Amino acid sequence: MKLLVVGSGGREHAIAKKLLESDGVETVFVAPGNDGMTLDGLQLVDIAISEHSKLIAFAQEHDIAWTFIGPDDALAAGIVDDFNTAGLKAFGPSRLAAELEWSKDFAKEIMVKYQVPTAAYGTFSDFQEAKAYILEKGAPIVVKADGLALGKGVVVAETVDQAVEAAHEMLLDNKFGDSGARVVIEEFLEGEEFSLFAFVNGDKFYMMPTAQDHKRAYDGDKGPNTGGMGAYAPVPHISQDVVDQAVETIVKPVLNGMIAEGRPYLGILYAGLILTDEGPKVIEFNARFGDPETQIILPRLTSNFAQNITDILDQKETTITWLEEGLTLGVVVASEGYPLAYDKGVVLPAKSEGEIVTYYAGAKFSADGQALLSNGGRVYMLVTTADDVSAAQTRIYQELDKQKRPGLFYRNDIGSKALK
Ligand code: AMP
Ligand code: GLY
Repeated sequence: MKLLVVGSGGREHAIAKKLLESDGVETVFVAPGNDGMTLDGLQLVDIAISEHSKLIAFAQEHDIAWTFIGPDDALAAGIVDDFNTAGLKAFGPSRLAAELEWSKDFAKEIMVKYQVPTAAYGTFSDFQEAKAYILEKGAPIVVKADGLALGKGVVVAETVDQAVEAAHEMLLDNKFGDSGARVVIEEFLEGEEFSLFAFVNGDKFYMMPTAQDHKRAYDGDKGPNTGGMGAYAPVPHISQDVVDQAVETIVKPVLNGMIAEGRPYLGILYAGLILTDEGPKVIEFNARFGDPETQIILPRLTSNFAQNITDILDQKETTITWLEEGLTLGVVVASEGYPLAYDKGVVLPAKSEGEIVTYYAGAKFSADGQALLSNGGRVYMLVTTADDVSAAQTRIYQELDKQKRPGLFYRNDIGSKALK
């Protein structure tokens, strides 16, 4: 079987590598991918994620069994609908089902309608009304651009002034363009943050282990929000009871709600949750795998990944199994300056193998092909599975210490919350 993965980051590297390791898979293409992926035998295809008709033509010419869609913007642009119209199978939600991610207001409406626990909120396109709501509710309060904004459209405001400024930037200064033409303003939720992922087809779903991302750039959750600087799974301090509660109060009603709305969901459902005193509540839904969470979740999958996705696409029952023991932890190495301006072209260390797995995100061969160079904000990620958090941290940080070089940085405390 030949497969295609759409996307170019560490998430797509982990998806494609796991697919290539599945019995029955000969070739995995990644469009457009990044050069680091070729070190794992993945084949790059020079087509951008926005070029749906070229991707479709490629899949037809190369007899691709199905295509796995990685990124949110491709889903929001209707890539799955276009593949299906061409008679091709693609794993990911339709444009209408993916609205759970690409409109925070839509996600809120669904949650209210189907009684899914989430923060109280208001949606505004008028700045004066948004400001009046902020003044009425007080701080802390959270201001979110309605549309996709690369994870950067959320401001957790500690003061009323900060919140008003954020609403001003989004609604009047067009900071996020159309994505910020409406804002969702919501109650600040206090508690431990974690993520739940599921493979979904309609009302059938298969839960994955719990995961915890680290969104801020620097140690101690300081600095600006990023795409994610490291993660681990499972989260030892989130009990099975909490997961069961989230499945009953969040996953089931949302999936049934999407069916009732005529937008049945197929693909990965990603729920960003906060465990409050009243139980788990939703802070966001994403319509795709997380990055960097995929890189620490998929190594724990012990069944045949390609077969699992094939079965789900064929509406068949499948058996998905996970490593029961230990913990998988990964640390992202990023370009100095990320998520703001940064330089490219730092020569990367040799790929770690064996107990440590390397997933590449922003990596490109030098012109002579002799070296792999940094070529993006997040550059690569080291992942390992060990008995517990401290064993995993020790192994990864010893390796990162050897790989340290000017122009790149990483957080030193990934997983430390699980030690407390
Ligand atoms: P999001 O892009 O929606 O995941 O938001 C980015 C980050 O902002 C989240 O990872 C949370 O840490 C924080 N956040 C978002 N919404 C809330 C909320 N209602 N209460 C507290 N923190 C929030
Ligand atoms: N790691 C956060 C995300 O993928 O949205």
